[in-house]
Amino acid sequence: MRTKLIVALDYPTWSEAEALVQKLPEVKIFKVGLELYLASQGQAVSELKKRGKEVFLDLKFHDIPHTVRQAACQAAAQGVLMFNVHAWGGREMMKEAVQAAQAQDTLVLAVTVLTSFNEATLQELGLKNIQKTVANLASLAQETGLDGVVASPQEIALIRKTCGPDFKIVCPGIRPHWAAINDQKRIMTPKEALKLGADYLVIGRPITKAADPRRAALRIIKEMEENE
Ligand code: C5P
Repeated sequence: MRTKLIVALDYPTWSEAEALVQKLPEVKIFKVGLELYLASQGQAVSELKKRGKEVFLDLKFHDIPHTVRQAACQAAAQGVLMFNVHAWGGREMMKEAVQAAQAQDTLVLAVTVLTSFNEATLQELGLKNIQKTVANLASLAQETGLDGVVASPQEIALIRKTCGPDFKIVCPGIRPHWAAINDQKRIMTPKEALKLGADYLVIGRPITKAADPRRAALRIIKEMEENE
């Protein structure tokens, strides 16, 4: 399967996360964000690696270039499959992250405009035009040597057009037609996101909150395989 599934482990304890991981032998990649990383004092990453799983470390670094370089060194040294930085940190900061991760086989991704933003929230910061801003930040990340971006499914076509076929696109905001929408606003089904060219789909609650998480995951994997 070309497009891969990443399950978001949004839990306040490692034991809850572990219980889910055990239920999902078919899932190979898990996302660890700020909540679980802090709650487990970083152990979630090594625990997942011990179980043969790959990790998307979603800590969205954004600081001065030197600080991000040091953090990126630590992230890459933990053997994660991918980690991310905010493109808003600028060229120099992104370059430091890429150089720090170079010795390891780790993908460095950029977050462009958070999907929680709309035109009004962007304007409050003195900026405008989400689409143009996303395209500019994705190009800057690509020019700087990053491997790809985390993006809303609504932005896949624009990023593909701007950055070409080899730039990785990792998409949250995915909802199968049978799952609850929760607080996600601009969603797509796995099938639609795949058609547009996403490389990885990040899915949390449709699996983690399902009555039978394994059944939900297998249903999504099947939907993905059928649409390759
Ligand atoms: O439960 P759900 O499928 O909405 O989870 C999606 C995951 O992706 C969550 O961990 C959320 O924080 C994350 N995420 C997102 N939108 C972004 C970046 C990350 O929903 N732009």
